[in-house]
Amino acid sequence: MRRKLVAGNWKMNGSLAENQTRLTQLVSALKNKEAIDVAVFSTAPYLFQCKSLLAASGISWGAQDVSEHASGAFTGEISTAMLEDFACDYALVGHSERRELFHESNEVVADKFAALLKSSVLPVLCVGETLEQRESGDTMTVIIEQINAVLAKSGIAGFKKAVVAYEPVWAIGTGKTATPEQAQEVHKAIREYLAQFDADIAEALQIVYGGSVKPDNADAIFAQHDVDGALVGGASLNSNDFVKICNAAG
Ligand code: PGA
Repeated sequence: MRRKLVAGNWKMNGSLAENQTRLTQLVSALKNKEAIDVAVFSTAPYLFQCKSLLAASGISWGAQDVSEHASGAFTGEISTAMLEDFACDYALVGHSERRELFHESNEVVADKFAALLKSSVLPVLCVGETLEQRESGDTMTVIIEQINAVLAKSGIAGFKKAVVAYEPVWAIGTGKTATPEQAQEVHKAIREYLAQFDADIAEALQIVYGGSVKPDNADAIFAQHDVDGALVGGASLNSNDFVKICNAAG
């Protein structure tokens, strides 16, 4: 049985004071939540705060991005070793906002994934199609290209120490959620695609759904066989909503 993961992607939100309140609420509300994995993704300046407030809890923390380079003249970038210094459990790679707004190619995302595999930080590989790609029937073509770039650099073994987040771009921050059936269809197709390379790795892989997950749609999404949790943006900024989503997961 795969464990479910519910992760909050805070994006460029938060402050020391706001995070303190939110993290304290989560620690108290989720203290007995042992059946699922819970994580928050803060911006880099607050990773130390996450470490301080979450280290003694069951909640993990992670970064929203990472550099593909180990060190050196890369102004503004943050390395995997720096994430290890702050005891991050996870880092997102290839979030659609990074791909779109910061022009990250499949190759750069695959390099970031590969860099994380050499560290103790687990990559959460985000994949997903735009509305235009879905409407022209290219959903799986796009996702397979995104996955193939990672397979080419890290092999199927890379997915043994990773999470995949299926996030249809048209459902992110729009209030439009994929139907549970649409999510299941893509999650199943991702698992079947990877199973051609290694059935055990594909079966064990956590594939979480992201895109306007809210307390009122979480139950139906989590009921799908191949949906192993959620990457939650907007609703993760409200502790009550995030806790409700965690409770729906187990
Ligand atoms: P959303 O964001 O829940 O606000 O749609 C999800 C994400 O971008 O990870």
